[in-house]
Amino acid sequence: MVTTRICEQLGCANPVFGFSWWEPDVAIAVSRAGGVGVWGCTRRTPDEIEAGVSRMKEELGDLPWGVDLVIPAGMPDTDDRSAIEATLPPAHVAFVEYIREKYDVPDDGLPGFRSRFVRSEETARQQLSVVMDHRIPVLALGIGSPAWAVEAAHEQGSLIVSLVGAPTHAESAIRAGADLLVAQGTDAGGHTGPIGTFSLVPQVVDVAGGRPVLAAGGVATGRHLAAALALGAEGVWVGTAFLASVEARPSRSVLDKLLAAGPGDTVVSRSDSGKTLRMLRSAWSDEWEAADAPTPLGMPFQDILIGDLLGQILRHEVAPLVHEAAGQGVSHLTAQEPVAEIMDWLVREADQVLADLGT
Ligand SMILES: Cc1cc2nc3c(=O)[nH]c(=O)nc-3n(C[C@H](O)[C@H](O)[C@H](O)COP(=O)(O)O)c2cc1C
Repeated sequence: MVTTRICEQLGCANPVFGFSWWEPDVAIAVSRAGGVGVWGCTRRTPDEIEAGVSRMKEELGDLPWGVDLVIPAGMPDTDDRSAIEATLPPAHVAFVEYIREKYDVPDDGLPGFRSRFVRSEETARQQLSVVMDHRIPVLALGIGSPAWAVEAAHEQGSLIVSLVGAPTHAESAIRAGADLLVAQGTDAGGHTGPIGTFSLVPQVVDVAGGRPVLAAGGVATGRHLAAALALGAEGVWVGTAFLASVEARPSRSVLDKLLAAGPGDTVVSRSDSGKTLRMLRSAWSDEWEAADAPTPLGMPFQDILIGDLLGQILRHEVAPLVHEAAGQGVSHLTAQEPVAEIMDWLVREADQVLADLGT
């Protein structure tokens, strides 16, 4: 079995961290299968985080697990949706209406994942406070690792994992107090920078000062896990490979798109969150790429501009516009499988590759 220093440190059987948002089921299944499951709860209300974290604690007992929050710099102080709405440019609002009408998206009057609340300093502190009350084993921070969050988590004994997309980001995360770095290359699903995983991982290892590094971005097979170890990483951090799993329970239209996608079927677009985000290519990303489309707004303004429509697209499965954040490894998804099988294959194939290489 592939094991590294991280396995000893955290008590996991193999050095595979599995990230998932939506419900905590995928993360729970990853930890049960010997890895470290991390629930991305940045779009969750404090009450939902309380319920999800309590459930993970209860179901996982002594197994290692974690949660992920995104706390970017420069967000508004408070969760004030009407203040944001008052600043939305009319041309942008009209463009969103044009998309709604062109694709006949029903307006059910409900918000979406991105517009249920405004990403703000206030919300981030409330979310973190709920998480901290539970003394979680691992706190992962995507996009920025503010020192106040790192300090609070360290006081509770959590291991701090920082996601970084460049060696300079790694240096800032180390200064803030990160214990473990995830070197996430551009191949990754979700928010991503321009540097490829193969180029990034050794550069982050070189600045990590002996701290463990996990490789992320395009990791979808045991060959990737073996290659990550060769690059100096001590494990992998995986998101896309679990998107079509049984436990992720994607809707029919999302599942069909995930299983049909090839490596060239993702794009990096600012149309969802205002920051560069790799997602499945769809009519949504094409509309925002069109020559006469407005430039997406920054975060959190884009969230509020498009959040209700995006929620309605997903709830009503408006197929041409349906999309999901997904990385270039999406082409490895060919069937819906339980998380335990995906984990088993990752680890067994890595073992086989390492044995063949004589390591
Ligand atoms: C659907 C989806 C949502 C994501 N949301 C977040 C997030 O909220 N916070 C975060 O730190 N990373 C997020 N990521 C990035 C993952 O943490 C991880 O770095 C990435 O999935 C790794 O690359 P891969 O997708 O090629 O496996 C997301 C990724 C996906 C696919």
